[in-house]
Amino acid sequence: MKTQVAIIGAGPSGLLLGQLLHHQGIDNVIVERRSGEYVLSRIRAGVLEQGMVDLLREAGVAQRMDAEGLPHDGFELAFDNRRVRVALDELTGGSKVMVYGQTEVTRDLMAAREAVGATTIYEAGNVQPHALDSDCPYITFEKDGETVRLDCDYIAGCDGYHGVSRQSIPKERIKEFEKVYPFGWLGVLSDTPPVSDELIYARHDRGFSLCSMRSATRSRYYLQVPLDEKVENWSDERFWEELKRRLPKEVANKLVTGPSIEKSIAPLRSFVVEPMQYGRLFLVGDAAHIVPPTGAKGLNLAASDVNTLYRLMVKVYQEGRTDLIERYSQTCLKRIWKAERFSWWMTSMLHTFSDQDDFNSRLQLAELDYVTSSEAGLTTIAENYVGLPYEPLE
Ligand code: APR
Ligand code: PHB
Repeated sequence: MKTQVAIIGAGPSGLLLGQLLHHQGIDNVIVERRSGEYVLSRIRAGVLEQGMVDLLREAGVAQRMDAEGLPHDGFELAFDNRRVRVALDELTGGSKVMVYGQTEVTRDLMAAREAVGATTIYEAGNVQPHALDSDCPYITFEKDGETVRLDCDYIAGCDGYHGVSRQSIPKERIKEFEKVYPFGWLGVLSDTPPVSDELIYARHDRGFSLCSMRSATRSRYYLQVPLDEKVENWSDERFWEELKRRLPKEVANKLVTGPSIEKSIAPLRSFVVEPMQYGRLFLVGDAAHIVPPTGAKGLNLAASDVNTLYRLMVKVYQEGRTDLIERYSQTCLKRIWKAERFSWWMTSMLHTFSDQDDFNSRLQLAELDYVTSSEAGLTTIAENYVGLPYEPLE
């Protein structure tokens, strides 16, 4: 087989890149190790920055998002039994975010790819990139008992944190930066109306909690839990009781509870690899970086990497500008580190840490009070939350 761009991984990064390239007449094949149903069964975040919304529109996959997504022009921070609103649009000159689940984004991208007849090979075994530092890279994989070779010009490693792409770069050519937090998030999805029209990020001495949503009838809630916590130890009843204890009283009183339809624990991690390219291989999204979910940046960072790689590829194929593609990593990393900083900061300010003494607890409250009582403070939260501008290519 032969294509122009071989894409490893059919998560949001791979599918969005594939769709944008296809629109520009750049041939691509996606190779994914799981089935399509499995990819869609993963429940992930759901807040899209304006830049990602625009990119989905450019890719021609925004119809359902525009009809069913919930535009949000603010969110709340709760601490010390108080609630402070971060008025995103007023503080940023009109920017908003869109609440629309990653699962739905993925579903729309899959449908669009099928409609244009582009090739995705699901359930591909032992995917391996080869000859990355040559002009003729290729990937191999196993499908239906046979080994298939896919020749290409470039390889996009969109295969997430545990993927093969980053692992195939020689160790001495990259540097990894990592911070692991001593807790995870226990998430529950339920068909109950959201407790509030806007998201609430709540700090409490018992731990952080988040009230989010997927629609007017479907809610997503999270609780900070110790890293070694087991999901089996959390009955629905225990989850709702704990959530109520961590929320301001008037919010807890309004909470509508119901059976969970999904419950899982995710660890929190900050991670970046530099550089994000090796020869003809480009790392995109979770393959290159992870953020803790507190700033809602994971999916959005993947979209900004896709934006950069897509525009650089268009320059290559339409203008012959093979020189610019060398700047992929440095262009992406500028924005990534700012999102890493914001996600780490929000995490540090809102969670309880196992070694937390009263002094640190008071500092956290002072910091929250300080940033939320000044327009400058609120603006710095708002402009990061709606998403910093995409970096120019030249
Ligand atoms: N070969 C082929 N496919 C692979 C391999 C492999 N060796 N390893 C992983 N994959 C596939 C996974 O099965 C998955 O479908 O790559 C895909 C990667 O998807 P994601 O992990 O969702 O990563 P990405 O597409 O970069 O999505 C952005 O941002 O913070 C997050 O929640 C957010 O998942 C979202 C991510
Ligand atoms: C979610 O709805 O799943 C969600 C929202 C905001 C976050 C993280 C997760 O910061």
